[in-house]
Amino acid sequence: MNILVVGGGGREHALIEKIKESELCEKIYCAPGNAGIAKVAECLPIAATDIDALVNFARENQIGLTVVGPEAPLVAGIVDRFEAEGMKAFGPSRECAQFEGSKAYTKKFLQKHNIPTAQYKEVHSFDEAVSYLDKFSYPLVVKADGLAAGKGVFICPTKEDAYNSLDEVMNKKSLGDSGNVVVLEEYLDGVETSALCFVDGKTLVPMTSSKDYKRIFDNDMGDNTGGMGTFSPNPMVDEAMAEKIEKTILSPIMKGFLEDGISFKGVLYVGLMICAGVPKVLEFNVRFGDPETQVLMLRLESDLVRIMLSCCDGLLATQEVLWKKESAVCVVMASEGYPATSHKGDVIDGLDSMFEDNIKVIHAATKLTDDGIVTDGGRVLNVCALAGTLEEAREDAYAALGKISFNGMQYRKDIAKLDK
Ligand SMILES: Nc1ncnc2c1ncn2[C@@H]1O[C@H](COP(=O)(O)OP(=O)(O)O)[C@@H](O)[C@H]1O
Ligand SMILES: [Mg+2]
Repeated sequence: MNILVVGGGGREHALIEKIKESELCEKIYCAPGNAGIAKVAECLPIAATDIDALVNFARENQIGLTVVGPEAPLVAGIVDRFEAEGMKAFGPSRECAQFEGSKAYTKKFLQKHNIPTAQYKEVHSFDEAVSYLDKFSYPLVVKADGLAAGKGVFICPTKEDAYNSLDEVMNKKSLGDSGNVVVLEEYLDGVETSALCFVDGKTLVPMTSSKDYKRIFDNDMGDNTGGMGTFSPNPMVDEAMAEKIEKTILSPIMKGFLEDGISFKGVLYVGLMICAGVPKVLEFNVRFGDPETQVLMLRLESDLVRIMLSCCDGLLATQEVLWKKESAVCVVMASEGYPATSHKGDVIDGLDSMFEDNIKVIHAATKLTDDGIVTDGGRVLNVCALAGTLEEAREDAYAALGKISFNGMQYRKDIAKLDK
């Protein structure tokens, strides 16, 4: 079958590397893709949000399955549009994508079904928000309701900080319409993790665990980023914790979907804070995480295309979802200036070095030019390794990374380094 992947980052490259292993897969297209994806798929000059063009392309090219990577087209209703044309697309409907498109929507659902989460108040104007500032303790978390590409959450140590964040978001509209509604939320102290699940409308199957690193510098210092590295499995989520998450969070979510008549299909990414051993929901995303996907795809044993088709068809209960025993590590190489800015056009050296079979050099933001492959955004490459132990995977990933270089490159040296 012909498969179309929508998106052009590291997540999509990692998905494509796994999709291409499937015996069901004939030809892979990617819109818009990047220089690394171009080696394994035909890249199309179509933006991930150009739904009309994507639907037309799929219709004219006998696409059997479209896989949607990023949230924006999902929230805009891409899956409904494909289904209306009788074509299969992996991902939630527009209605279900509100779980990422609106934080207030998710909070309402969690509260209704008694699923552990931070106390909150949804507010619709600056004045209303300010009237609640004395009712919360500090730090207070201020969250823009809509999509904000990771820039919509403010941890406010004082009332004055909260006032200023609200002024930015609700009066000055720094995030556009995404800040029309705001969620004021209790600050949760704990350790963060995430639970990604395949869902087919009736059945929810948790994926294996992973850990990501959000800060730009070693030892979790510096600004937040889209993610500087990951590893899997995550020893913090041992069997007992995985069971607790399933029993207190994931099953109640699935039960809530069924009670409310919500037919969620695709990937549900549940962001969690574990507070003194008690998992609580921070947020939902409605797609694979980036760069969690990079390590998850290395560890997925089963056929990804079959899993995705079974999610589309409501047959996940009968589908095998198995994980390899080995460990995977992913180290992100970012461009100069990231995350504040990102330098484009730096030539990348070493991409055609000899890499061992257990290494995958995933492209996140690269472009082919007359000078060769150059940087084309903040997170440029994801160097990934799969090995018998976490320590071996870590060593192999860093050894491979050592063969690659570009001007101004930045990467963390402490990914998957436990017991520092
Ligand atoms: N209630 C909370 N208490 C403490 N930290 C929080 C809380 N909500 C969010 N955060 C922090 O802010 C980050 C971003 O918040 P999240 O809800 O995941 O939004 P998004 O990913 O859309 O930016 C989280 O990963 C977490 O580190
Ligand atoms: Mg988040």
